[in-house]
Amino acid sequence: MHVLVTGGAGFIGQHLVAALLARGDRVRVLDNFDDAYDPALKSVPAGAELVRGDVCDPGVVRAALRGVEGVCHLAGRAGVRESIVDPEPYGRNNVGATITLLHAMRAASVARMVFTSSSSVYGAAGGPSRESDPADRPTSPYAASKRAAELFCAASGLDVTVARLFTVYGPGQRPGMAIARFVRLARTGETIPVYGDGTSLRDYTWVGDTVDGLLRGLDRAEGYRVVNLGGGHPVAMTELLAAVADATGRQLKVRWLPPQPGDVPVTHADPRVAWDWLEWRARTPFREGVARYVDWLERR
Ligand SMILES: NC(=O)c1ccc[n+]([C@@H]2O[C@H](COP(=O)([O-])OP(=O)(O)OC[C@H]3O[C@@H](n4cnc5c(N)ncnc54)[C@H](O)[C@@H]3O)[C@@H](O)[C@H]2O)c1
Repeated sequence: MHVLVTGGAGFIGQHLVAALLARGDRVRVLDNFDDAYDPALKSVPAGAELVRGDVCDPGVVRAALRGVEGVCHLAGRAGVRESIVDPEPYGRNNVGATITLLHAMRAASVARMVFTSSSSVYGAAGGPSRESDPADRPTSPYAASKRAAELFCAASGLDVTVARLFTVYGPGQRPGMAIARFVRLARTGETIPVYGDGTSLRDYTWVGDTVDGLLRGLDRAEGYRVVNLGGGHPVAMTELLAAVADATGRQLKVRWLPPQPGDVPVTHADPRVAWDWLEWRARTPFREGVARYVDWLERR
């Protein structure tokens, strides 16, 4: 298949592009190398065609869709806490860009897409969260923007798989994310600021497993469908700290701080739709994933 990957130079995008190329697909990446974090960390695997441009620009998107048969739409602004401080880029890059892309896809008769939404759309509901649960109480502009983009996908009439991702980690992870930050500070012996009381739970997902789910969601896209890509085994903050200490061989210095606005206490996927529909499950045990991440850092 000839696939357009928006946001293909970012963390998950790089892994997805490599996997598409490895299975013989032709790949074009559309990415504007935004400055949400150091753009020097972004790149496109050899073998993919790169278009540097903005998904909000209809002309750029029209050209990027030429000859394409399917779209993986990852471009967007991530970050729950940052969205509370400065919500505007979330409306533009998560909602506006998705509207522009869907409109251009309809015009170009490109029907198939997988879209990376987020577990944050479930709000503070606890878990396990099912795709059919209400998603109308977002706790951040980021969550609201992902939910809004989902609804535009639903209204498009295209074959869109909405993949709700649950905290993805692995090589090349965005530097601001917990595992990347904790490992970095552990290795330099600095104090690790941790928000909350250690009981918060996250359904961490190894990036290779996420990519496997996205490929299945793309291949089987038919009508509008929503699927959780999370393992259903949330990990407590205290367990994450213990895994980082083990994998780095360091004793951690931790400073506990009050919870941050927008943070939810639990993310927890109900993975049954992913299994029944896509035969997908998260295969990488959490401790093994953290050890592999540290190993990757040390070999760089
Ligand atoms: N990493 C996670 O845990 C996670 C969880 C849930 C959802 N998601 C979603 O998955 C997607 C990928 O996440 P990631 O962690 O790889 O983030 P990332 O920031 O590393 O990648 C996003 C990429 O999109 C590009 N981009 C942003 N706005 C753009 C625009 N208007 N036009 C063109 N390119 C643009 C950026 O330059 C970046 O390379 C995002 O949409 C994110 O919201 C990620």
